[in-house]
Amino acid sequence: MPETVRIVTGKQEMELQVVEGTEGEKGIDVSNLRAKTGLVTLDPAFMNTASTESAVTFLDGEKGILRYRGIPIEELGERSTFTETAYLLIYGHLPTREEFTRWERLLTRHSMIHEDMRRFFDGYPMTAHPMAILSAMVSSLSSFYPYALNAKSDEYRDITIARLIAKLPTIAAFSYKKNIGHPFMYPRNDLEYCANFLRMMFAVPAEEYRPDPVAVKALNLLLILHADHEQNCSTSTVRLVGSAQTNLFASISAGICALWGPLHGGANQEVVEMLDDIRHKGLTAQQFIAQVKDKKSGIRLMGFGHRVYKNFDPRAKIIKKACDEVLEKLGVRDPMLDLAKQLEESALRDPYFVERKLYPNVDFYSGIIYKALGIPTQMFTVMFALGRLPGWIAHWKEMIEDPSTKIGRPRQIYTGPRETHYVPLEKRG
Ligand code: CMC
Repeated sequence: MPETVRIVTGKQEMELQVVEGTEGEKGIDVSNLRAKTGLVTLDPAFMNTASTESAVTFLDGEKGILRYRGIPIEELGERSTFTETAYLLIYGHLPTREEFTRWERLLTRHSMIHEDMRRFFDGYPMTAHPMAILSAMVSSLSSFYPYALNAKSDEYRDITIARLIAKLPTIAAFSYKKNIGHPFMYPRNDLEYCANFLRMMFAVPAEEYRPDPVAVKALNLLLILHADHEQNCSTSTVRLVGSAQTNLFASISAGICALWGPLHGGANQEVVEMLDDIRHKGLTAQQFIAQVKDKKSGIRLMGFGHRVYKNFDPRAKIIKKACDEVLEKLGVRDPMLDLAKQLEESALRDPYFVERKLYPNVDFYSGIIYKALGIPTQMFTVMFALGRLPGWIAHWKEMIEDPSTKIGRPRQIYTGPRETHYVPLEKRG
């Protein structure tokens, strides 16, 4: 007998179906509620609303569990590569040797961007934020692949997906080169994904550049940890935009814009700027924590807190450990890391943070590793976007291939004026 929930509205009673996920999560299906009762549900910020069923990622915020297609994030971080994890997320299984070879070939063969597109970069001021460039360039890709505009057609879907994953590092690195006035470095097919990206970022035509294997490994790990996080703000954006059958490039471009916000992917940049600021002002960790606790200050401890994780963020645990290892192996001694640890320690002991279940999130230590790899602060959110891309694509694909998908269109409770009438300009007070 399927589980139901009974609701009573006035004299009316109604049974609502309970939907159960594979990990025992339950949700009340309210899709018929308005038709039967005239009522809608009100849930600002979707604190309590499952917008979809999804088979991509499972996370349990209370237990600190994160799994892509059932595989724990800890195992993927330890044993997989970013491109393999991307395949897993998008196609639902780990690739066979043959599938992986084909996938890798696609990702290397499609990494160049059209030469005309290269010239787009000339129009930006040198100070342009790379996220602005990234979202515009990704949307622009749709103008070079008109046959990818039909989101429902599956004929070119796989090649469009591969193109996007292959080209994003090139666009990201070019946006950085534009920023510093260096010549663009074209991608190289003999390098693996992350090594190729580091080369496009840091090589110059004047000399040989060999990516440091420690940096390549660290980057693979960071991108894997960011690769998906179920229905977060940017992924929900990609799904909502894509639900209008918008092409993949435009949908992902919208996701990049959502990610840019300081409460979302922009937090990694904010963390390092916050640490810089604390050091610059000569504050101790305790003094800064006291400022954060004073609500009037409007200051948040960036990199702390999460809508879903109320125990710990498993990604933060892995990143913290990696941070120590990577800095040591690269021979980097960064006082920011000590300050971050002091802040974490103070916060975790403080009732303000304990009562609100605020823990370090993925962004708290990631910026310190990016910094050690030589990646400038302004590029941190771009790095998040590089990592999150397979997740966005997996969700877009899952949605577009589901025949029951309808355009996303929330309701509202209107609170504006009741009917009133137009007053001509000369009669307005
Ligand atoms: N510093 C200080 N107080 C905080 C913080 C923080 N970082 N985060 C939450 N709080 C307080 C908040 O003021 C509120 O207190 P009160 O109950 O007294 O009003 C309470 O904790 C609940 O916070 P909320 O803003 O209602 O929680 P939320 O689920 O809406 O927000 C969040 C989650 C991540 C936006 C928030 O914790 C935050 O702003 N954190 C800092 C930004 C950040 O690190 N973002 C990255 C998130 S992880 C990567 C990603 O997914 O993008």
